[in-house]
Formats: sequence, structure tokens, C-alpha cells
Amino acid sequence: MAEIRVRNTNERITGEANVRAFLDKQEVLYEHWDASKLPAELQDKFVLNDEEKATILATFDAEIRDLAARRGYQIWDVISLSDATPNIDELLKKFEQIHTHTEDEIRGIVSGRGIFIIKGDEDTGYFDVELEAGDVISVPENKNHFFTLMDNREIIAVRLFIEKDGWIAHNVEDPAFAK
Ligand SMILES: [Fe+2]
Repeated sequence: MAEIRVRNTNERITGEANVRAFLDKQEVLYEHWDASKLPAELQDKFVLNDEEKATILATFDAEIRDLAARRGYQIWDVISLSDATPNIDELLKKFEQIHTHTEDEIRGIVSGRGIFIIKGDEDTGYFDVELEAGDVISVPENKNHFFTLMDNREIIAVRLFIEKDGWIAHNVEDPAFAK
């Protein structure tokens, strides 16, 4: 289950109902998949071949198609990141830059953990959403955010796109963001 940390106040929000209410208010879609559906041999595997990625997409096919039907996604894929990913430190540096996209950024976390940092409304400011397996989140289009790994530095996620060009990152310099 996802947890929230509001950066300005260090307030933590936990528990499904509280997290959902907070994210609803910030217009961030939050849903849940049953991550235990993932075949056992893939549950702790962060380096994947094409066949294993196809197995993951097949495992969550109904959930993916349901989201696609509701929200217009046309294509989807699987990404895996871990210390085994070539140039992981450089990649993370690139990730940790506030940006926006012209379409929403949706991720279904299949295993591992990750964190979205998102700019909320005026009263809230930036907040972290710490994600674990089963969490599905969509950062709305044109909302400042970035994504990074957590201490375990391992994640597998399904990404969905309306069109791949919609997901180009437009970097934003925001003095309101303090690391
Ligand atoms: Fe993004």
C-alpha cells in the first residue's frame, strides 16, 4: 500500500482510505492490482528477458485492458530497474529532475518499490508517494513531478501510453522545490 510524505510539513499519510482521499484531492489516480498474481519465479527477479516481460504483461492483461478502455491507453510495456541496469546512477540523475508531460504518466508496480515526487495544490506543495508492488498511480498531464527508486533500488513496473511522444519530459526549474 502506498504511503505519502508531505515535504513541507513532513506529515506522513498511511492507510488505504487516507492515502486514497489525499490522492483524490490532488487529482492523482490511485488503484490497486493483486501483485501476488505474478508467477513465483518472477516475484524477486529484476533482470528480465523479453519472454519474462511478456509473461508479466499476460499476467496483468485484464487489468491493463481495463485501464486502457477507461483512459485511452494504446500501448504498454514493462520496465525494470536495479543495480544491474547499465548506467543506473546516471539514469537516476536524469530521472531526478522535475518535469511535466503532455499526457499522464501511469505505472503499475509489479514488484520492488519506487517513489513519485509530485507537486500538489498550493496548500500542499510537493509530496512523495512511496509505492510498492500492486500500487497503480497516474500523475496527471502537466503536473510537476519526478520518479526515482527507493533504498532497495529495485523495481518492475508496467507503463501505459496514449502515444509515446506524449511522454516526452519537459524539464521545469521550480524554486519552490527543496530536496
Ligand atoms: Fe515523468
